[in-house]
Amino acid sequence: MTALDKADALRRRKGGRPIAALTAYDYPTARLLDEAGVDMLLVGDSLGMVVLGYPDTTHVTLGHMLHHIAAVARAQPRAFIVGDFSIGTYDTPAQALANAQCLVAAGAEAVKLEGGCNQAEKVRAITAAGIPVVGHLGMLPQSVIEEGGYHKTGKTPAQAAAILADAEALVAAGVCAIVLESVLPATARWVTAQIAVPTIGIGSGEDTCDGEVAVVDDLIGSFPWFVPPFARPEAHVADAIREAAAKYVARVTLLSKASP
Ligand code: KIV
Repeated sequence: MTALDKADALRRRKGGRPIAALTAYDYPTARLLDEAGVDMLLVGDSLGMVVLGYPDTTHVTLGHMLHHIAAVARAQPRAFIVGDFSIGTYDTPAQALANAQCLVAAGAEAVKLEGGCNQAEKVRAITAAGIPVVGHLGMLPQSVIEEGGYHKTGKTPAQAAAILADAEALVAAGVCAIVLESVLPATARWVTAQIAVPTIGIGSGEDTCDGEVAVVDDLIGSFPWFVPPFARPEAHVADAIREAAAKYVARVTLLSKASP
């Protein structure tokens, strides 16, 4: 299936079977998630925090994204591989198109960018070149410094109307789906009902969008130092790693004591 076929298949999920998306940043995780039937593997710039140890996504570079997208692509998943633009790599339509082509050359089948009306021209430039684009509205992690933290959006009628206007601009420009992050559930449900492409929610309530995306570390419990309030871990990988490492340390220590 080509990237454009996969984007069309995603679009057709509007209002149908919910889309299950997860982030993935490496080869084994991509293979495991794909085997489990995940629809979309998002190589998100959240890798800045959960893989690279930065405080937020503003430290992530194009080089980081290319490295991790290539690792995920080597898994040759059936799932749709979406690669995030890192901050400062899509400031103009020409830059966005050139860097979208780099993300695709690394193995992405679609690219994701943050923002609405202000990004429409860039979305048009990228989609005109045959590269599917996923939008991202609501709380925009790349603006965390200007916003003074991570805040819920869509709380007032004016904020809800602005999100809808942004979503409509992105749809008109050709996106195949839109992530809604930390949007008031009622607003997420309302926007979802108004627009023609699937919405994929995170921190925007349950059953409010056409699908959900989660950071894989939040799902498997492998990043215990920060767990978002909306996360619903299904495993406790950090505990398993600590336990295995402690057993290893004990075994090696005992061995070294036994030797002459
Ligand atoms: O970077 C990321 O992982 C994301 C998700 C939070 C949607 O953009």
